[in-house]
Amino acid sequence: MQCRNAALINNESDNCMKDFKTLVQTRRSVRKFTDKEIDADDLKVILRAALMSPTGKSVRGWHFIVVDDKDMLQRFSEGRAMGSQFLAGAKVAVVVLGDQELSDVWTEDASIAAVTMQYQAADLGIGSCWCQVRGRFTKDGEATDSYLRTLLGYPANLVAECIVGFGYADVERKPQNEDGLKWENVHIGAYNE
Ligand SMILES: Cc1cc2nc3c(=O)[nH]c(=O)nc-3n(C[C@H](O)[C@H](O)[C@H](O)COP(=O)(O)O)c2cc1C
Repeated sequence: MQCRNAALINNESDNCMKDFKTLVQTRRSVRKFTDKEIDADDLKVILRAALMSPTGKSVRGWHFIVVDDKDMLQRFSEGRAMGSQFLAGAKVAVVVLGDQELSDVWTEDASIAAVTMQYQAADLGIGSCWCQVRGRFTKDGEATDSYLRTLLGYPANLVAECIVGFGYADVERKPQNEDGLKWENVHIGAYNE
């Protein structure tokens, strides 16, 4: 597969992601996007990654609501007092829902699907950022999940974990700094102070 616009996230010209080790270092959250549309085939590859992500007991209970309507994206951006504003400028947003009746690990399943989409997007040179929904509120104190439910009409068994906004980066994000990694949080054999 050809990697397009990888330069926008890895700061190298004409260079595809080479391996997963590089991908995990160069994927960074992107909250400012260009006007460039996301190709329908690329979007399908991103959604495919979500549908291939692992789930507890392999229930695959998640649902994904794909939105590119500008007005709806604007509404999404107003779904939190803080932290959701970037969604207004996203080209596409995917609302990630879990089925709380089908699985007791729906939050884990939804989270893994969301982050799998983020890595797939990064591999395609497409930026993304997670907007937390579960446990968050609008500026008027309404649960963000309830706010979205009214907008999107999903049933009571489904709960939104997050919204992932996608688009081509209009900002340069540096790869993660190898020296800043918290190796002290890794404990070998048992917990060590
Ligand atoms: C569980 C979770 C919740 C997050 N919620 C938000 C959010 O609501 N709004 C936002 O702008 N970024 C959100 N982020 C993105 C983080 O702020 C970001 O991943 C972190 O600052 C590290 O930066 P990086 O992704 O560029 O490495 C969230 C990330 C995770 C994993």
